Amino acid sequence: MKSEYQRRRLLKIIAGGILSIMGGLFSATNNLAKSKQTRKNMKTNETSILSKINLPETGPWPTEDPFLFCVHHNDDYPAAKDDLSPNILLSGRNLGNDFSNKDGWSMYHGQKIPGFPRHPHRGFETLTVVSKGFIDHADSLGASARYGDGDAQWLTAGDGINHSEMFPLFSQNGNNKLDFFQIWLNLPSYNKRVEPNFEMYWEDEIPKISSNLNGNKNVLVEIITGDYLDFSSPIAPKNSWASDKKNDVAVWIIRLDRNGKFAIPDTKSGAKRNLYVLKGSNMEIDGQNISGGSMVSLDSSKNTVIKNLGRKTKILMLQGVPINEPVVKYGPFVMNTRSEIEQAFYDYNRTEFGGWKWGNSDPVHGTEPEKFAKLISGKIIKPRK
Ligand SMILES: [Fe+2]
Repeated sequence: MKSEYQRRRLLKIIAGGILSIMGGLFSATNNLAKSKQTRKNMKTNETSILSKINLPETGPWPTEDPFLFCVHHNDDYPAAKDDLSPNILLSGRNLGNDFSNKDGWSMYHGQKIPGFPRHPHRGFETLTVVSKGFIDHADSLGASARYGDGDAQWLTAGDGINHSEMFPLFSQNGNNKLDFFQIWLNLPSYNKRVEPNFEMYWEDEIPKISSNLNGNKNVLVEIITGDYLDFSSPIAPKNSWASDKKNDVAVWIIRLDRNGKFAIPDTKSGAKRNLYVLKGSNMEIDGQNISGGSMVSLDSSKNTVIKNLGRKTKILMLQGVPINEPVVKYGPFVMNTRSEIEQAFYDYNRTEFGGWKWGNSDPVHGTEPEKFAKLISGKIIKPRK
């Protein structure tokens, strides 16, 4: 019975739209202008744009190998109650599966507090990069975290983990803005069953580059992972596809002020490179006008020049050499073959990837907006400030 219950529960989670979930180092701003040489092979006279498509109004964005999924959560939650939930009637929402964006926000799979209660993953990584707001993580290995406001969590699901991702609301007066990207990065077959783990990168550990090379101006680039000219971000878990520099994985948030300009250098790695231009933006990319809500695929062997013609905004860049393996996805599991997916269900039914030691499926971690992480090793870490 228990096994059957678990199986049905998992299927319910999947049917509920789990796919749509997704849907120090150093902190100083580095101005590389003085110490780095302009690359000799910068070209500006030919476009690097391969294609452009409109992004869907809601839900996940298209991605290319080695990425599996990307979603931008951008919710303006109302004021909160003492229990960190929205201080407003939730009637009229499809609680448990609310992706409505009614009044500018959604509850997702949350019943009381917005977010994604307990759900499993196997075979890939989730990278959650938060610009604004907080996320409470709890998992089947006893680990937990509260992070946000510039932090990133990089979770290697590997062999399997259950976790919850809830969005506690702290302001009882004003609104509670939540703005983050969740990106799924595939694992190669030889790493799909590695031990699950997560790394926290606090805001002051994420490199931020401001460069005035190549005519750059009014730009700040968060190099979550990847290389920029002679700078190499140290961020990537050891089993990640991103940890091998020849895979040239880059996740950058390019922040441009009005009239900002930035040149993305070319690479010989053969990486796929895509820009996600947020709704409301107005850009010029290699001389071509690009409106907001667009995904622009680039030829990474050519450099790309971005100019911001509109208000202050940001662009997400995802880049990486493809893994080039078969991808079989079923809900929260991403493997190479159908039989491996069946194995994942079998294993999940049997072990629940470590079970669930939390009292409820949607735990939050106290009423103070204090960041922490209790890692899978049991070690507790906090940001320095
Ligand atoms: Fe998740």
